[in-house]
Amino acid sequence: MKMLKTTLSVVLTTFVLLMLSTLTVQASKPDVADYSLTTYKSATCGCCVKWIDHAEDHGFTVKGINSPQLNAIKDRYRVPANYRSCHTAVSQDGYIFEGHIPAKFIRQFLQEKPEDQLVLVVPGMPVGSPGMEYQNKFSPYVIMAFDKNGTLTTYAEINHFEEQFE
Ligand code: CU
Ligand code: CU
Repeated sequence: MKMLKTTLSVVLTTFVLLMLSTLTVQASKPDVADYSLTTYKSATCGCCVKWIDHAEDHGFTVKGINSPQLNAIKDRYRVPANYRSCHTAVSQDGYIFEGHIPAKFIRQFLQEKPEDQLVLVVPGMPVGSPGMEYQNKFSPYVIMAFDKNGTLTTYAEINHFEEQFE
């Protein structure tokens, strides 16, 4: 009888613990997206470091990797040749973020988890974009998305400095 009681209480405790762990897993998962990025840049790129600071200030965990072979990396991640910038950031899910994209739009994209679109780009280095601050200048720019077939669409038009932030 004692044996049965012990077994029963073990079973019950296990059951309660299982229920509790299910609850905590659900409670500790407010966001579906993972906000860590691996960012490939050249060792001498100053605006890349400033962009990484911007991303970290806005909730991302960024691992910067210096590489002298940036074009090979951009080839590997299929960043179209005419739309390249100074750095290439790669998310845990395998999405690619090329150039000075504001953290706000990377967050949005990662939450949307688009199935076809894999790459977001801000070509060149628009003045006034995150990491490209210069005096109070700002030149409007477009964030573009590429799908698996290389089809280009406009993801967001940034016409004013303030639109870059939440
Ligand atoms: Cu740059
Ligand atoms: Cu850069």
